[in-house]
Amino acid sequence: MIDSRILVGLVAMLIALSSVVYVGINEADRQAEFKRAFAGRQVETGASLFGEFCAPCHSIKGEGIPGRAPALNTAEFFGNRTKELGYQGSIESYIKLTVASGRPAQSTSGPWAENMPTWSVDYGGPMRNDQIDAVTAYVMSWGNKFEEGVEFEAAPLDCDTSEECGELLFQSMGCVGCHMINGEGGGVGPDLTNVYTEKGEDHIRQSILLPNAVIADGYQPDVMPKNFGERLTDQNIDEIIAYFASVSR
Ligand code: HEC
Ligand code: HEC
Repeated sequence: MIDSRILVGLVAMLIALSSVVYVGINEADRQAEFKRAFAGRQVETGASLFGEFCAPCHSIKGEGIPGRAPALNTAEFFGNRTKELGYQGSIESYIKLTVASGRPAQSTSGPWAENMPTWSVDYGGPMRNDQIDAVTAYVMSWGNKFEEGVEFEAAPLDCDTSEECGELLFQSMGCVGCHMINGEGGGVGPDLTNVYTEKGEDHIRQSILLPNAVIADGYQPDVMPKNFGERLTDQNIDEIIAYFASVSR
């Protein structure tokens, strides 16, 4: 027979435990509630920041202004922009990064009158990081109405293998005008015959998307067009890389 003192002890312990569990559950509720309220306030703050700082170029609902800044409130932007750029992160991180650091490098290539400014205090801009988070949350709130993963087809190329498609792109996009491969092509930019073996895939991808990030020895910046990121899909860039790999020794 169990000693009644042990029983009382056990019961007391159970009661104590259950109240700990109860507080725990309640705390989780309270935190979820707090998070919801915080997210709501954050989007509101973001909306007013957007009206003040971003609307002059992107317009108040983010539809963009021709010649000034691109639309952000579109299915294309939410479904396809990061893929188009070959950017590996989420659309949210892309927005945050672009807002924080701006686009100081794309000034001359785009159809835009002025650059996307740099906003984060970390880069000498006027916004604190919690404000960047808020404005990002506001832009992200537009994305909810678009379906995830909308696909946009690249223009079809008449080719079968990736290497073949890459070779066609190399010609049709005008790369061949500036770059030589196996003795054919222009000499404005470096010979790319062995670029795959010598510098690797990541370097090639970066050179196409951000030509000024690293300048090849002995060459000038601002010569290679900076808008291939807008004209080539991620798949196109893979195909060009496959072509480089196939000719490289
Ligand atoms: C002076 C005009 C101007 C202001 C103000 C401005 N932008 Fe931009 N923004 C641009 C331009 C121009 C581009 C395109 C840059 C490029 O692609 O080279 C751009 C690009 C972007 C992009 C990337 C779009 C894409 O398709 O890749 C995002 C996101 C963005 N802006 C968000 C913002 C936010 C948020 C604010 C306010 C904090 C803001 N912008 C304020 C001009 C502006
Ligand atoms: C108007 C001339 C021009 C065109 C067109 C051009 N490039 Fe370039 N490219 C250059 C110049 C100049 C450099 C060297 C400066 C630099 O690194 O940005 C370069 C650098 C590169 C590099 C880095 C080479 C290295 O050794 O680091 C790659 C890869 C490249 N281009 C690929 C391409 C591809 C692919 C295309 C077509 C989609 C293309 N380029 C179109 C001029 C051009």
